[in-house]
Amino acid sequence: MSAVSQMQRFTVSKMRARKGGEPIVCLTAYTAPIAHLLDSVVDLILVGDSAAMVVHGHETTLPISLDLMIAHAQAVVRASSRALVVLDLPFGSYEASPEAAFASAARAMKEAGVGGVKLEGGRRMAPTIEFLTSRGIPVVGHVGLLPQAVQATGYRTAGRSRDEWASVIDDAKAVADAGACAVVLEGMAEPLAAEITKLVRIPTIGIGASPHCDGQILVTEDLLGLSVSGRVPSFVRQYADLNKVIAEAVASYAADVKARRFPAAEHTYALKQS
Ligand code: KIV
Repeated sequence: MSAVSQMQRFTVSKMRARKGGEPIVCLTAYTAPIAHLLDSVVDLILVGDSAAMVVHGHETTLPISLDLMIAHAQAVVRASSRALVVLDLPFGSYEASPEAAFASAARAMKEAGVGGVKLEGGRRMAPTIEFLTSRGIPVVGHVGLLPQAVQATGYRTAGRSRDEWASVIDDAKAVADAGACAVVLEGMAEPLAAEITKLVRIPTIGIGASPHCDGQILVTEDLLGLSVSGRVPSFVRQYADLNKVIAEAVASYAADVKARRFPAAEHTYALKQS
């Protein structure tokens, strides 16, 4: 990738400038065709570790490796030119130490050309966020419901009782103070997400959070209705039903093959006229 094409992308400083302004539009992508379709519409493409579940059929996000995340990010960067591409550091690639996080994030930036990384965790990850940002790696934080902590905490919505608020607010503030360029607020009571958005000076990106966040993100396949289970979380608005479209298309193809309607003459190669 050339330096020029990097410069044309949405940048972390443009994202910071959108705090309290025009909402930041974010979606996930793991492949070139989806990235290509999103690129002219969204500001930020997250190569989420949700790829483990959405693309690879795992039950949680935990099994995906950094190598696989980098391969997905390479495809997304290749197929986009406008959006800021952020790679989600997978479970096990950054928690052990700031140095381990730097090694993983540097690989993501050098091998895939992403513009930054995302990592889960509040106060406990603040020293790591500071370590990365002070060494030139833009970091998006992630607080509230933490899918990588599912084995420890389950998928638990945060802040539905007010006595939990202080801890989540402290997490978001710690991430902001450590130098993150934005913070994802996932799965939390709407008024808490709105309050955090008022309290922190960096943009908040909501998922299952609040319309008052500075931006929104969803897993693209959820809004497209493309999944193995066919179910979507309650915080998703489904804009299409690709499961149905694909199932119908494939059934039509199978029927045509069985009835010898496909291939038709126009799909075959005739002999050259000599
Ligand atoms: O992995 C993911 O898709 C995420 C969400 C915030 C969309 O982290």
